[in-house]
Amino acid sequence: MIELRNVYKYFDDTVAVDDVSLSVPKGKFCALVGTSGCGKSTTLRMINRLLAHSEGEILLDEQAISDYDPVLLRRRIGYVIQNTGLFPHWNVARNIGLVPRLLKWPASQVRQRVEELMQLLGLPVGEFANKYPHQLSGGQAQRVGVARALAADPDILLMDEPFGALDPITREKLQEMLMQLQARLHKTIVFVTHDMDEALRLADHLVVMRAGKVIQQGTPLSLLQKPADAFVDSLLGGLERGLKQASLTRVKDHMAPLGPTLPAQSRIPARYTLRQALSMMLRDHSERLTVVDQHDMPVGELSLRKLVKEAHSSEQGSSRES
Ligand SMILES: Nc1ncnc2c1ncn2[C@@H]1O[C@H](COP(=O)(O)OP(=O)(O)O)[C@@H](O)[C@H]1O
Ligand SMILES: [Mg+2]
Repeated sequence: MIELRNVYKYFDDTVAVDDVSLSVPKGKFCALVGTSGCGKSTTLRMINRLLAHSEGEILLDEQAISDYDPVLLRRRIGYVIQNTGLFPHWNVARNIGLVPRLLKWPASQVRQRVEELMQLLGLPVGEFANKYPHQLSGGQAQRVGVARALAADPDILLMDEPFGALDPITREKLQEMLMQLQARLHKTIVFVTHDMDEALRLADHLVVMRAGKVIQQGTPLSLLQKPADAFVDSLLGGLERGLKQASLTRVKDHMAPLGPTLPAQSRIPARYTLRQALSMMLRDHSERLTVVDQHDMPVGELSLRKLVKEAHSSEQGSSRES
């Protein structure tokens, strides 16, 4: 759905984006990751034409974005930034209804849409509709920012470090919210972050940038298994890479058929990750776990030996939505 072909962006003498090619299929979540100044935001802003690209092609549904009317283009694309950009003297409801009002939706329809979005984002209407941005916590303001970006039901969401200013606990909650939202709405998302763990957690497709260039792209698991160079390896956490890989892989995809169960063997739900399984083995001094289903019925087992072998052997664990 979104495709960049050999895209460049120059600011005077600097090359901010240097021969970037990538494509994001419909309904997929793409994360752009890299250290500050590597060209992530510039790449994002060229997609909704807040910035014009200098060279190359940017296509939306196989049509050059320069062929679209910029206003129509931005109507299809929601945009969320770090400091929300909420209007300080407008209440929450008015902020969320901005785009539908610009599109001249009837007032009753705007109100209905705003209430629907507030519910979707866990902002009770009675409590929040009349609050002003300064009365919100960082996490609440960011939810309002996401609601506003979704207001006119765009099929694309561009998010530029949306959770970058939040404390770790709030950040994790909003990541969880975004994953749930995405499972329901199936938007095509391009998400910029400098936080590799955030990217690994959220993305179907990961794009690592450095000095304007794409260094490596692929599924999170494929990058963890084979980082292109020492830079990508260090971004992925170096020694921690093994654990990160284990945290993207589910027990259910790697368990063995049920053997003779030992009486005191620890139990782990099949939906848990290999990382959680490893942690349980360490905690319980156990090299074997019984895998159970959602009704706590044994369905298989996992040994330390199998965990160590399997965690690195295949991609089949990457189906995180199942
Ligand atoms: N409007 C601008 N004018 C001049 N240089 C810019 C402008 N915007 C970004 N740059 C430069 O382009 C490079 C990439 O910036 P940016 O895309 O914001 O990086 P990131 O989002 O990865 O931190 C940086 O060197 C930055 O200084
Ligand atoms: Mg940026």
